[in-house]
Amino acid sequence: NDVTFFTQVVFCFVKTIHEFFRGSKKRMVIFASGRGSNAEALHEAVENGTINAEIKALVTDIPGAACIDKAKSWGVPVIVADRKSFASKQAFEQYILDAIAPYAADVICLAGFMRLLSSDFISHYEHKIINIHPALLPSFRGLHAQGQAVAAGVKIAGCTVHFVVPDMDAGPIILQSAVPVYEDDTEDTLAARILTKEHPTYVRAAALFCDDKLTIDGNVVKGTQE
Ligand code: GAR
Repeated sequence: NDVTFFTQVVFCFVKTIHEFFRGSKKRMVIFASGRGSNAEALHEAVENGTINAEIKALVTDIPGAACIDKAKSWGVPVIVADRKSFASKQAFEQYILDAIAPYAADVICLAGFMRLLSSDFISHYEHKIINIHPALLPSFRGLHAQGQAVAAGVKIAGCTVHFVVPDMDAGPIILQSAVPVYEDDTEDTLAARILTKEHPTYVRAAALFCDDKLTIDGNVVKGTQE
């Protein structure tokens, strides 16, 4: 009827104006090594418009990783770079750089990508690479961050989304979310609790980045508070 039609016209008009002022979609490339639940959360948020981006490709270093089938099901091209097939880290990284160059990425999201990128690689995408780490940085860098937290007996743990710099799990922090640690926690139970926070935290950080809301002032990221 007329009311429904009118409502739809108004909705389309508002949406078009919103998209115009929001700016063009960022070109996103995701790097992942495993099951890809963070990649999936990013994809869902891109699809529903929460993140103003298009996912151009997914890069993985693990042939057969579950993230590959996920990306294929989204119709996203997959680049597999198995470190073992390259003589050096430099050759491995050069392959990835060449493979993603056509996508002219505005943002690279490391979503469970378990390799340290060299400073040379990072220099090609300065302040455009973001990572999620399952700890409240700067505590518990590196592997088994959730197990490190349990072993240290901390009472609060969580996740951090940050800009990537050559040092492992360092770089200006965009957002963090906290969870409690219980006395009977294991690495796995804590990891599962943290993971439920990882997805919304990564989505929000990526959304802020893609809406050009973030600035970096030394170690401090500004623009994350409403
Ligand atoms: C996530 O817990 C992520 O924070 C972690 O790997 C997992 C990947 O899960 N990343 C790191 O430890 C990086 N230092 P996912 O494949 O389901 O997103």
